[in-house]
Amino acid sequence: MKILVVGGGGREHALCWALAGSPLADELYCAPGNAGIAQEATCVEIAAEDLDGLVAFACERALDLVVVGPEAPLVAGLVDRLQDAGIKAFGPTAAAAELEGSKAFMKELCSKHGIPTAAYQRFQDAADAKAYAHELGAPLVVKADGLAAGKGVTVCQTVAEAERAIDAALVQRAFGTAGDTVVIEEFLEGEEVSAFALVDGETALMLPAAQDHKCAYDGDTGPNTGGMGAYSPTPALSDADLERVRAEIVQPTVDAMAAEGRPFQGLLYAGLIRTADGFQLLEYNVRFGDPECQVLLMRLMSDLLPALVAACDGVLASFDLRWYAETAVSVVMATRGYPGAYEKGEAIGGLDGAAETQDVMVFHAGTKADPDGTVRANGGRVLSVTALGNSIEEARERCYAAIDRIDWPGGFCRRDIGWRALGREIIPSED
Ligand code: AMP
Ligand code: GLY
Repeated sequence: MKILVVGGGGREHALCWALAGSPLADELYCAPGNAGIAQEATCVEIAAEDLDGLVAFACERALDLVVVGPEAPLVAGLVDRLQDAGIKAFGPTAAAAELEGSKAFMKELCSKHGIPTAAYQRFQDAADAKAYAHELGAPLVVKADGLAAGKGVTVCQTVAEAERAIDAALVQRAFGTAGDTVVIEEFLEGEEVSAFALVDGETALMLPAAQDHKCAYDGDTGPNTGGMGAYSPTPALSDADLERVRAEIVQPTVDAMAAEGRPFQGLLYAGLIRTADGFQLLEYNVRFGDPECQVLLMRLMSDLLPALVAACDGVLASFDLRWYAETAVSVVMATRGYPGAYEKGEAIGGLDGAAETQDVMVFHAGTKADPDGTVRANGGRVLSVTALGNSIEEARERCYAAIDRIDWPGGFCRRDIGWRALGREIIPSED
């Protein structure tokens, strides 16, 4: 098969690494890729948002499969465009990607189909929004409807804070058109976990669960980021819990999307919270998480490629995947300043030594190589160092041992990834 992976982050490096290992993959391209991906795939200089360029490339090369990593091209309709051109594509159409692209759409779908999620209302008018915020009382959550690069959600401890968040979106227009509508919802108390399913329009095949760390600094403090680390499996979600999440949340969503004429095909990522009343849905993402993808793929024993093709072809019902029982931990190394302003271009040394650490993969996110091979930081999140171990402790030790071999003064990472899981028992799964 001739395959293109769209994107250039750690998630896409892990996807390329897994796909490159498939005996079914003959040619592997990545657009735009990065310095690490270039070890696995031929990088082509087309941006992930350049739909025309991507479709033209796919047609020119008569590709057999396009795997779309990030949400922006999915929401913009890349899969629709590829399908119209007769090219198989893994990922939802624009209509189905609304699950991530519009929080108001997701909430309405849930309330219409009885999928458990926080009570909410949607608003375009600031005064109406504030009146509802007063009615709900603190704590409460204000969300920009559209894609806002992870910055659109404000958890408010006071109603005054909620009023400021409402004004930021609806009056100051801090999120542009993504903040034309806001969703205001009740605050849910509990531990957050992430569940993932491969979906073919009808069937949801659950993958192992994971937990991530969104805050920039140790102790889950500091600004929100795209994700500073993740691990799988997690003691917070047993196999029995996973089956409940499938039956109560994921499958009903897949059925609802089909009933609405927006069948969902691709990877469905459910952000969940375990409350005293059971699991509630916080958000949907319509793609693999980053760095959750890295930990999942390190644990995947089966060939990823036939699974993605089965999702595209609507035959997941007869499909199964096997996983290593080991724990995978991923620690993100970011440029100092991220998620705020940061500088690009510093050379990173020691990568080869780090990659030699037992059971470690150094996935690249924002990196670029000079012609002489020097790897330079080229983004906010730059590396995601991922390790397997017999316990979360062992996987963490391997991650940090690899990181300690990396020579990059301008980089930082959290030193406490996985702290919530330490000392808690992970219930082993059958395979
Ligand atoms: P979202 O992008 O909707 O997942 O929101 C980002 C983060 O905000 C989540 O990971 C939660 O930590 C927090 N959050 C969102 N909605 C709620 C809620 N209703 N109750 C509590 N925390 C929330
Ligand atoms: N790590 C969170 C996400 O990919 O959305």
